[in-house]
Order: sequence, then structure tokens, then C-alpha cells
Amino acid sequence: MAKARRVVLAYSGGVDTSVCIPYLRQEWGVDDVIAFTADLGQGDELEPIRQKALHAGASQSFVENLVEPLVQEFALPAIRANGLYQGRYPLSAALARPLIAHHLVELARRVGADGVAHGCTGKGNDQVRFDLAIAALAPDLTILTPAREWSMSREESIAYGERHGIQAPVSKSSPYSIDLNLLGRSIEAGVLEDPWQEPPADVYTLTCSPETAPDEAAVVDIEFSQGNPVTMNGQSLDPVTMVRQANAIAGDHGYGRIDMIEDRVVGIKSRGIYETPGMLLLIRAHRELESICLAADVLASKRQLEQRWAEVVYQGLWFGPLKQALDGFFAVTQKDVNGRVRLKLYKGSCTVIGREARGGLYDLDLATYGKEDSFDHGAAAGFIYIWGLATRLWASRQN
Ligand code: ARG
Repeated sequence: MAKARRVVLAYSGGVDTSVCIPYLRQEWGVDDVIAFTADLGQGDELEPIRQKALHAGASQSFVENLVEPLVQEFALPAIRANGLYQGRYPLSAALARPLIAHHLVELARRVGADGVAHGCTGKGNDQVRFDLAIAALAPDLTILTPAREWSMSREESIAYGERHGIQAPVSKSSPYSIDLNLLGRSIEAGVLEDPWQEPPADVYTLTCSPETAPDEAAVVDIEFSQGNPVTMNGQSLDPVTMVRQANAIAGDHGYGRIDMIEDRVVGIKSRGIYETPGMLLLIRAHRELESICLAADVLASKRQLEQRWAEVVYQGLWFGPLKQALDGFFAVTQKDVNGRVRLKLYKGSCTVIGREARGGLYDLDLATYGKEDSFDHGAAAGFIYIWGLATRLWASRQN
């Protein structure tokens, strides 16, 4: 009952994806399972993970460093889009899935596979993102999703793995479902499923608590060129280093934690905890700079479209026509987003304390209350007379 002969599996090294290897071979009759692991800056040692796949029965095992494309092709567009799902979550896990899918498909082509596989379960968003990205990039490839179809409990899948030479997790495995990459960390499940429960302090690893953050505030300057962050505190940084340093400084000051109820694609409300200090800091700064660079009507439309962009990306439609069209709109707007923003990080808060545009729309002579004022006050009366015409007419007809 082979659904595919040769399959490339998105492999993380965790229990589920490890069990997928013998499962695909034994239960689904796949001849050849090839593992693919992406280095997304999660900080895991990847050589042991590569070996583990071979040990579990993969015929080949590949690791690829995708940190640079994760930042260039996914984080920067997300910053330019101020992409926050439901106004809060900077999509750290969502952005990584189309990238992994892209490379999964590429490897499938290279090794002549007729299928790809992932270990996502049937309740989450990640399955949607993988499946839709693969469908868009390689509609001919069969997608195999064993963890969505087997009906094993966690204990059963661990036992299945042990029968096939996969060691049960050594330490008592974390009660949480965790996803980690350079853009952030997400924590779900366990005690967090009670939305009334405060997250235990130990769920956090990238950010310190606001209570223990330094008493001294940190001031950070971030400069943007065409919507991309290019310098921090006057120092030019490549985009990967920019995200790393933004993570470090914001995380050190307790900024970047999110505790939210989010709406999953499959209709479930779920409680998610995130630590995304760098992305939140960079988006905060970027959004502020736009307020001084962009015309009011462009700004108003962009704010609406940003929400759509975040939904589309969250919902797995990265490789789709709406996402492409929105990116086109954003690209035009970002030509004008040049300048810098100064922010103060202090015990979990991030406050903008200065902004300065290169060629922006802020005009001191118009804005000032001082004597340099060049605004024609007299002209306001005529403007208001006409602007208010409809209102006066309407008011006169009320009894
Ligand atoms: N809820 C978040 C999202 O949909 C995080 C998902 C994390 N994935 C995971 N397999 N733990 O983007």
C-alpha cells in the first residue's frame, strides 16, 4: 500500500518525526525515506539529529542552514508589512514553514522522490502551511502525513519508536509543544491550556521577566533604508545580525513576551505564549517610522492590508496570489520609509522616544506653534465651511 516509493521527510529530531521514519517504511510500504532538517537558528546541535534520522532508518539525511533566507526572504518582508497576526503575534513559526517546504520540495526533486512527508498533527496550523506550500510549489508530489493519520497516543508512539530503535526521550520530555527559530519561540499545551493560569516562569527562555530586568533602561536607535533595518546604534548590521542583536537587547530588558488566545486555521481557539523580542522591537520601530514617512491615506490603507497580510501568512497562503499582490503594494510604499527611530527598553516596555525621517513628510514650518509657522490660518475657514456643508445640512433637517 505504498503511497509513494521515495519520500523526503521534514525532520526535526523529535519523537513524532523520528517515529515517522519506521512508520512510513513498515506501515505504508515506502522504500526509501530521506530526512531533511533545516537549521533555522534554533541552536540545536544538528549533526546528532542528522545521525538520529539515519539510525531510525532513513537512507540519507540532510541538514541545511537556512538562517539567511529565513531573515532575508521572510523576516524582512514581515517587518515591512508590520505583520502581526490578530494584532499581536509576529508569525515566527508561520514564516518558517513555507521556507522549509520550499527546500523539502527542492530536495525531493534532487533525489528523484515522488513524495514528501511531515510529522504535523491534524489540529495545528503547521500542517496547513506545509500542505498548501507544497501544493503550490509541487502539485505532482504526494504529501504523506503519518502523524495525522495514526491514532497513537504519545506513549504509544514512543513505544512504537522504541520497538524500532528510537530511544525514548532521555529527560522527562517537556510538557509543552515548543517551536523555536531565530525569529522567536512559541510555547503551547500543558498547563497553558488553562487560559486563566499564569504561565510558569520556566516557560520562558529568551526573555527575562520584567521584574528581574535591569533597573537601567536601554536606548536603541534603529535606522531603516527602504523599510529594512540597516543600522543599530549607528552600527551597520547584516539582517541576520540585526535580528540576533534585537533579540538580545529586547530580551534582556524583558520585552517581547506575548500571552494570547489565537484563532487557528482549523477553527480552534488556542492559548499561545510567544517570545519574539527582536521581531517585536523591529516592527515597533518600523511602524513608527512609517507614521512620519507615509501619506495619511497610504498609511490608512496599509494598516488594513497589513492585517490581511498577517492572516494570509498565518493561514498558510504564502505562495498565493493575494500575498503576492499585497507585497506589491508594500514594495511601493517602502521606497519612502527611510530614517531612524529611537526606542527605550525598560522592564518589559518598549517606548518610542524619537523618530527622524530622511525626506519624510513632517514639516516643522507647518506643524509648529512657534513664529516660523507657515500654515495659512485664514484658509482654514473656507475649508471648514465646505467640509462641514453636509453636516450643517443634515443637522438643519433634524427636529
Ligand atoms: N500557534 C503558532 C502558529 O500557528 C505556533 C505553532 C508552533 N508549532 C509547533 N509545532 N509547536 O504559528
